[in-house]
Amino acid sequence: MTTNIAVLVSGRGSNLQSVIDNIENGYIQNAAIKVVISDVEDTYALERARNHGISAIFIDPSDFSNKQDYEKDILEVLKDNDVDLILLAGYMRIVGKNLIAAYRNRIINIHPALLPSFKGLHGQQQAFDYGVKISGCTVHFVDEGMDTGPIILQKCVPVLEGDTADSLSARILEQEHKILPEAVKLFVEGKLKVEGRIVVRT
Ligand code: GAR
Repeated sequence: MTTNIAVLVSGRGSNLQSVIDNIENGYIQNAAIKVVISDVEDTYALERARNHGISAIFIDPSDFSNKQDYEKDILEVLKDNDVDLILLAGYMRIVGKNLIAAYRNRIINIHPALLPSFKGLHGQQQAFDYGVKISGCTVHFVDEGMDTGPIILQKCVPVLEGDTADSLSARILEQEHKILPEAVKLFVEGKLKVEGRIVVRT
C-alpha cells in the first residue's frame, strides 16, 4: 500500500526537496507526494514540486475570511488526493483545530530548534541570541498548541566559536534534511505509535 503525502510549504522548500529525493532514491518506500500546497504565491517550493511532476497548488489565505474556511479548501484538496499524511515543511502558519482533528497524529512538522525551547518563528535565531551551546532540530506530530506535539526525532547541533545565526542555521538545516525523511520513513513503515505525548517506536 502506498502512503499518500501532502506537503504544506511557505517558501524555499529545501525540506520538501529532501523528502522528494529520499522517495526517489528509495530510502522511503511505498510513499508518494501527491500534492504540495503553498500559502504564498510563486514560492520556490512550488517550482521544486512541478520539476518533479508533483501537483503544486497556491491557496491564498487572504481569499478567506477565517482560518476555518481557508482550511476547508485545504481539506478538499487533501480528500481529492486521498492524503494519509501531511508534512509541514517550512509552513509558517499555525494549523487550525479542524485540520488537526481530521489528521490527528498524521501531521508532521519540522522545527529548527530543540523543542520545547524556542518555539515559533526563527527558532535558530532565538537559540543563537539566547546563547545556547547546543541547538538542533525537532520533528514532531502537530497538536493544537504551537510546536507542542509529541516528538518523533531530534538532532543536536553544537554552536561553534565564531558562529553567526546564519552559519548555525545552515548546519541545523543539514540535520533537518536527515531527520524529516527518517521520520517519514518510520511513519510510512507503521513504526510510530503515540502514547499520550510519547512517541514509541514499534
Ligand atoms: C526550515 O528551517 C524549517 O525548520 C523552518 O523553516 C525552514 C524552511 O526551510 N520551519 C519553521 O520555522 C516552522 N516554524 P525550507 O523551506 O527550505 O524547508
